[in-house]
Amino acid sequence: DIFSTAEKAAKWVAGEIANEIKQKQKLGEKCVLGLATGATPLGVYSELIRLHKEEDLSFRNVITFNLDEYYPMLKLSAQSYNHYMNDVLFNHIDIPKNQIYVPDGEVSKVTITGYCKEYEKLIDSFGGLDFQILGIGRTGHIGFNEPGSQLDSITRLIMLDSLTRRDAAKDFNGLGNVPKAAITMGVGTIFKARRVILMAWGDGKATIVKKALEESQCDAVPASYLQRHPNVKFVLDVPASSEL
Ligand code: GLP
Repeated sequence: DIFSTAEKAAKWVAGEIANEIKQKQKLGEKCVLGLATGATPLGVYSELIRLHKEEDLSFRNVITFNLDEYYPMLKLSAQSYNHYMNDVLFNHIDIPKNQIYVPDGEVSKVTITGYCKEYEKLIDSFGGLDFQILGIGRTGHIGFNEPGSQLDSITRLIMLDSLTRRDAAKDFNGLGNVPKAAITMGVGTIFKARRVILMAWGDGKATIVKKALEESQCDAVPASYLQRHPNVKFVLDVPASSEL
């Protein structure tokens, strides 16, 4: 779907998330959300906060799993996705803290493989993701599944692509400070979500959006695997759709 502005698109996505949460509340069930970071979902999170404050949307039945975290990364660091999520969403809503899961960039190298497997199992233990939101990196990554990631990949440690690190340099005051690796849910983890929405705003994303939607599926553009997901929608603003 193409919206006239990113703001309108973000509001629509937030509305869809709110509907899912309310539907599960009616059934007395938990709602398991997969969340993303970066600039793209900021409008969604601010609208969810508004719905919480002004329209009584409650997050008490919500469980969240974030896609990824830089590695190594201190949770309290201003650049961590743990910090980002608290700042832009969790500190402003009524979600119980023990229902929030963000990959931990502080785990030691020796335990990281086991940690990633546990993260994967934890998602499954809640019945899997009901609703996953995604941005897209200019390498075609979803989460931090860089080119080369396979369709059946699971949560793991991954080396970041040099373009991804260059795009992140402004947040880290220079390329030299950007971590070389990250923990990310796999393409397979994302694929198991019952509903997926990928968002992209601005002309900087137009080329990769075109590749993800129009080129044949391949590991060179991990987002292209989404073409075969049974319930996926790309939500774009006009500039991001300009090459379609
Ligand atoms: C980071 C995140 C991705 C995100 C991408 C795009 O690499 N790990 O989940 O989709 O950046 O970022 P932005 O939304 O800032 O363009």
